[in-house]
Amino acid sequence: MVHISQLILGDTGCVSYVVVCKKKRECAIIDSFEGFEEDIHEELKRLGFPIVKYVIDTHTHADRKSASSYFAGENGLDGVVKSEMTKYKGKKINTKDGDILKIGNAELEVLYTPGHTYDHNCYLVEGNLLSGDCLFIGDVGRIDLGGDPREKTEMLYNSLRKLEKLPGETKVYPNHVGAVHAIDSEDTFSTISKEMKNNEALQVKDIKKFYTYMTDGWPAKPDSWEEIIAYNLK
Ligand SMILES: [Fe+2]
Repeated sequence: MVHISQLILGDTGCVSYVVVCKKKRECAIIDSFEGFEEDIHEELKRLGFPIVKYVIDTHTHADRKSASSYFAGENGLDGVVKSEMTKYKGKKINTKDGDILKIGNAELEVLYTPGHTYDHNCYLVEGNLLSGDCLFIGDVGRIDLGGDPREKTEMLYNSLRKLEKLPGETKVYPNHVGAVHAIDSEDTFSTISKEMKNNEALQVKDIKKFYTYMTDGWPAKPDSWEEIIAYNLK
């Protein structure tokens, strides 16, 4: 059975994950960030130094610099696992919807879930959804950091419909938690059925109303978000 280490990074509310097959001693690092490399190193040590088979991003982050290329280099990998839709110019392993990545005995399935960004993937592994910035606890990822808000809203709307089809007991592990990201819940993970019941964004089943929901009253954009995106695409 797969083990998921959830690493909440200081008081940033950002979350990195290590997905491990303890039996075969292989793992994947998902959404690592500059300044928090030690958190990953410590967790790998705690897990007994499993082989890092993949370094994965859910999407091009706009609020924090990715450390994925660092970890891919450190572990001699061919590149960072990303959606084929990414404009990332570094070494990468492109994925498309439905692709399977083997981590020891575990199968990690790629779910292409654009909306928050055009290159957003969620990853499903043994009933656990790494939901990135597509689905949070009680909310969803913003669509206003670059691109066409109308197009991205429609993409997000369809991506959420896709996640709703997952079994209700599927655990949801997001890329952001807590008040610093305007998320009310103190929980750090959820389930699809809880979100279908409680998540405001999932109650809106009309695309026009959803556009209003997605464009009304969102918090200020992160500092230097355009520079951070440019950095993360290098
Ligand atoms: Fe994001």
